[in-house]
This record gives sequence, structure tokens and C-alpha cells, in this order.
Amino acid sequence: MDVYEAVDSRRAVRAFSDEPVPRETLARVLAAATRAPSSGNLQPWHVFAVSGEPLAQLKSRARARAWAGDPGDEREFPMYPAELTSPYLDRFTAAAAQRYRALGIERDDLDRPRKIAALNSGAFGAPVVLFCYLDRTMGPGQWGDAGMYLQTVMLLLRAEGLHSCPQVMWSVYRRTVSEAVGADDGLVLFCGVAVGFEKEGVPPVRTARADLAETVSFIGM
Ligand SMILES: Cc1cc2nc3c(=O)[nH]c(=O)nc-3n(C[C@H](O)[C@H](O)[C@H](O)COP(=O)(O)O)c2cc1C
Repeated sequence: MDVYEAVDSRRAVRAFSDEPVPRETLARVLAAATRAPSSGNLQPWHVFAVSGEPLAQLKSRARARAWAGDPGDEREFPMYPAELTSPYLDRFTAAAAQRYRALGIERDDLDRPRKIAALNSGAFGAPVVLFCYLDRTMGPGQWGDAGMYLQTVMLLLRAEGLHSCPQVMWSVYRRTVSEAVGADDGLVLFCGVAVGFEKEGVPPVRTARADLAETVSFIGM
């Protein structure tokens, strides 16, 4: 698969089939992704790839918390700035409406937050979740490195016919996740990435993007 095709076909998939992901395939992707760049070559990510019974148990514990209306563990980093202003707020609102309507959750549904949390807690049916942690001592630069690393993983997954959904939502139930994977207190959970084959018959959601001129300035060319 050509790189442009991998970038264009990667999207946050929120309906996975239960077809298992072979361990060799995942290992090939994660081995190739070690080539991702990082400032000073720190490679600051720590990944736990979870599947099978341990994932089933984790999903079930997280889902129970979601359905109980549990607001989650105290946050270790803000998911978004406290005041999201235009144009970011407009982009956020448009994407949020689109993504969950596709899953049958309407904006006026009073149970919307719980339903969204429950769907996320099931990793949208994905048979594998990659939990990406950073050492607590790491700063904003290394969080950027982790983003580059995860995008590398997600593009390589496309080359294997697999799809993904990054999920910061897991950080809401970070204690449940850390207990399941055995992560110690020196690590901070950035996000999970649900991995699997896309479920057939679910219409794909293609989120909009800002015009190039809104986010890129060409200077001297
Ligand atoms: C770091 C990160 C965290 C995300 N967390 C969630 C999440 O918790 N739940 C979810 O459904 N989507 C999540 N997303 C997916 C975004 O909503 C999605 O990438 C965005 O709307 C653009 O859509 P696309 O990826 O389909 O192109 C996350 C994406 C990133 C990069």
C-alpha cells in the first residue's frame, strides 16, 4: 500500500469485527514502528498490547464503571484546554456530532455521555487494544513523540488490512487499565488504540478537515 493511500484510508473506526488479529502481524507492525522518530531518539513510549481474556475482563470492568455513571479517575492531564475557542471548538463540535450519530447516539439523547463511555470501554468491539504510556518525567516534547509513534503504528496497520481507533477515553479509567496491564505509578497512560478488522456493513465516517490555508502558511515558495 502506497503511503498516501495508508494516510487517506486511516480513520477512526468504531465498529470492529471479532476476527482475531494474528500475533505475528501485530509484532511485525510494532517492530516496524520502532523506526518512528523521537527527539533525541528517546523513544519514550511504553506499549502494552492486550487481547484475549485479559482484554475481555478489562472491557467488562471499564464498561461497568461507564454504565454506573462513574466520572473516572482523577485526571493526570487535561484532555482538552479548559476553554476551547473557535476555530477548534467548531471543529470539535462538528466531528463529535458526526461520529456518534453514526453509532446511533443522537445529540439530544440524555444518556449520551454514558452510552459514549460504554462504547469506548468496549473498544468498539476491537480484539486488541494497545495502551500507550509515557514515563511520568517526560514533557510536552515527548508527548509529541508518542503521537508520531502512534500514527506510524496506525499507518502500518493499514498496510496489513487492519484498522484502528485512538482512544484517550481510556485515560478516564486509567486505574482499571494500569491494574490490568501491571503498569506502575511511574507511568502515565496517554491513550489506548483499538485495533482490528472493520465490521462489515457499517457506513464509514469521513470527518472533514480545515482548508489547507487555515493550518499551513507557505513562506518563500
Ligand atoms: C490522541 C487521540 C485520542 C482520541 N480519543 C478518542 C476517543 O477517546 N474516542 C473516540 O471515539 N475517538 C477518539 N479519537 C479519534 C478522533 O475523534 C478522530 O481522530 C478525529 O475525529 C478525526 O477523525 P478520523 O480519525 O476518523 O479522521 C482520538 C484521536 C486521537 C488522535
